[in-house]
Amino acid sequence: MSKDLLLDVENLKVYFPVRRSISEFLAMKPRRFVRAVDGISFKIRIGESLCLVGESGSGKTTTGKAILGLVPISGGSVKYRPKEETVKVLREEGVEFVDGFVDIAKLRFKQMKPLRKEIQIVFQDPYGSLNPRYTIGRILEEPLIIHGIGETSEERIEMVARALENVKLIPPEDFMERYPHQLSGGQRQRVAIARAFITNPGLVIADEPVSMLDVSIRAEILELLNTLREKNNTSMIFITHDLAIARYACERIAIMYLGKIVEIGDVDMVIQNPIHPYTKALIEAIFEPDPSMRHKIKEIPIKGEIPSAVNIPAGCRFHPRCVELDQDRKTLESYCLMKEPSLEKPIIDAEPERAVACWKYIERR
Ligand SMILES: Nc1ncnc2c1ncn2[C@@H]1O[C@H](COP(=O)(O)OP(=O)(O)O)[C@@H](O)[C@H]1O
Ligand SMILES: [Mg+2]
Repeated sequence: MSKDLLLDVENLKVYFPVRRSISEFLAMKPRRFVRAVDGISFKIRIGESLCLVGESGSGKTTTGKAILGLVPISGGSVKYRPKEETVKVLREEGVEFVDGFVDIAKLRFKQMKPLRKEIQIVFQDPYGSLNPRYTIGRILEEPLIIHGIGETSEERIEMVARALENVKLIPPEDFMERYPHQLSGGQRQRVAIARAFITNPGLVIADEPVSMLDVSIRAEILELLNTLREKNNTSMIFITHDLAIARYACERIAIMYLGKIVEIGDVDMVIQNPIHPYTKALIEAIFEPDPSMRHKIKEIPIKGEIPSAVNIPAGCRFHPRCVELDQDRKTLESYCLMKEPSLEKPIIDAEPERAVACWKYIERR
């Protein structure tokens, strides 16, 4: 594995069992599953940012939770390369390493604890994610205490002050004394970002971090995330349902549909030259994006509704909604309706890192 690789997700699956009704149980109907994440693979290098984009229910949050060890992983691997000091702690816990990587899918809950310092999250809701009874100072000191960072209380308070300065909450002494309800939504999200970066993580997962904020402050929060990421050489997974935001948030982009990645590549290249019919539909749905992100969203030009993750269509899971299958039915039908396409280099011209899961654009076999 390459030296600068941080995270290597391979064929990750997260299935949730569906509760059976009593009649289903008595009829001995087999247990069914929500296939929230259904075999996805991607890599992230040190310092790199990747956006996960897709409609609601496509499995973005579940992917993030799996990497954080917050949901049981049903299959595949999530290999992560911790920093030196964390490697030591994990080895003491008896965790196995291969080439410097640990497989999060194989860790027990308790063994995840040292990794929580390294893999941090920023949630969508800046109101719900901060304890309302704690001052901002205490909220930011807590992760330092939990992970044993800083020798004395003075040292930690100094770190908290610097973290507040880094997210432009100035003067820090003033913000430290306040409670979350005394801050605006944007300021709260800055606190959540400060909390994520205070442990010097290798990876920050930001799950729709600007979706609940006023459009006028979205750009500055995105900029802040990217400034901190670059300054600390932190990698980021940025989750959003909004392609227009992805464009300003990340370097690479993965388009998700019903638990699968259907296209992945450089963000500008994918937006300028989308290949998968689903990506094309998402891009058409963005009407006049501009840097202030005051865009309007049109209806996504796809037939029908997103199917349920319990009853995933056979063959290519996008085929019931695909307009390109309709146009080319004769040549494509035997593939799209029967066989699942894998994420591969397209047969048409594209940059080297592009991959797409569509029978029209990958080699048919
Ligand atoms: N704990 C859970 N139990 C059962 N189903 C779940 C659970 N969490 C998520 N799901 C289902 O998994 C699918 C993916 O959800 P999610 O990852 O939240 O999507 P997204 O973040 O892209 O909107 C959805 O169909 C959702 O209903
Ligand atoms: Mg989500």
